[in-house]
Amino acid sequence: MLGLVIESSCDETSVAVLKNDREVLSNIVSSQIDIHKLYGGVVPEIASRNHVKNISYVARQALDEAKVEFEDLDYIGVTYGPGLVGALLVGVSYAKALAYALDIPIVPVHHIEGHIAANYLTNKELKPPFMSLVVSGGHTHLAYVKDYTDIEVIAKTRDDAIGEAFDKVARVLGLNYPGGPEVSKLAENGNDTYTLPKTKFENYDFSFSGIKTAVINLANKEKENLRREDLAKSFEKNVCDTVVEHAYSAMKDLGVNKIALAGGVAANKYLRSKLFEEAKKNHFEAYMPEIKYCTDNAAMIACAAYYNYTCEKDKKKFDIHNNLELNAIASLKLDKK
Ligand code: KG4
Ligand code: ZN
Repeated sequence: MLGLVIESSCDETSVAVLKNDREVLSNIVSSQIDIHKLYGGVVPEIASRNHVKNISYVARQALDEAKVEFEDLDYIGVTYGPGLVGALLVGVSYAKALAYALDIPIVPVHHIEGHIAANYLTNKELKPPFMSLVVSGGHTHLAYVKDYTDIEVIAKTRDDAIGEAFDKVARVLGLNYPGGPEVSKLAENGNDTYTLPKTKFENYDFSFSGIKTAVINLANKEKENLRREDLAKSFEKNVCDTVVEHAYSAMKDLGVNKIALAGGVAANKYLRSKLFEEAKKNHFEAYMPEIKYCTDNAAMIACAAYYNYTCEKDKKKFDIHNNLELNAIASLKLDKK
């Protein structure tokens, strides 16, 4: 079974060709980071225009690298939400045009479902059920993956996403966009010497706006006396420890002993080692995607598309043999996909 799958929810135009469930034949990612860097963040209109410019070339490259032709494909997959609506629409329209021309089904995928599925590409033995800690630029979720296409949200952020907090702290520290990797690099030479606030709720929900404001206030107060490396380290440790603590306390309470990390912030070295270290202490199994599958890419979306395509229940729900009505949904909910 061969699927060609498109991801264009933010600033990466990506197309992958997947064979069966987990064999990536190609995964082309055309990043617009250098364009958006000039503005300190993603400019939605510019992102859409660049997706339009790139998408046919990226798809052609994905087919060439996989050594397959359009006629060999069994289905087209696409991220239909959440994300920037203009950016999503480019992928969805292109997918619909291809599916119509080739007379094959189109499989819609929730972007977060894709981030979680990145784990299957790296860990071939991984199967549901497990808990997933989704940490990205737009989302922070604790999700219970009951089955490949059945995901229950256990907790989410009440304000900023963790990646967003990394990006904002980076800006305060005078670093480039995207800020996560830059803050992490700076933190390598720092010590956890600044006391920053932690927010706690009765459930496992997250909140990162308090710590973001605390970092901004500290930077304004200390000015040239600010120890940037130490602040980067204190921030990184605080937010990464928090998400791991929430995940493990939910797992203990709910009797789940497997966890899979997902999303762009899963590329963070400290977070990866913290998750493994705590898993060892608690006798949990911890999984994470290879770095190349952490940030946005079409291979992870393709893996989720395969499971949606082969799930009878989802086939009916999405009417995938006849859904040229498919639309992009900017704020698509994970448990209401
Ligand atoms: O998953 P992703 O590519 O896009 C969304 O779906 O949001 O995540 C991008 C986010 C950005 O906020 C970026 O700063 C963060 O992931 N990120 C990192 C690291 N690499 C990427 N954050 C912390 N440490 C990293 N190494
Ligand atoms: Zn993402």
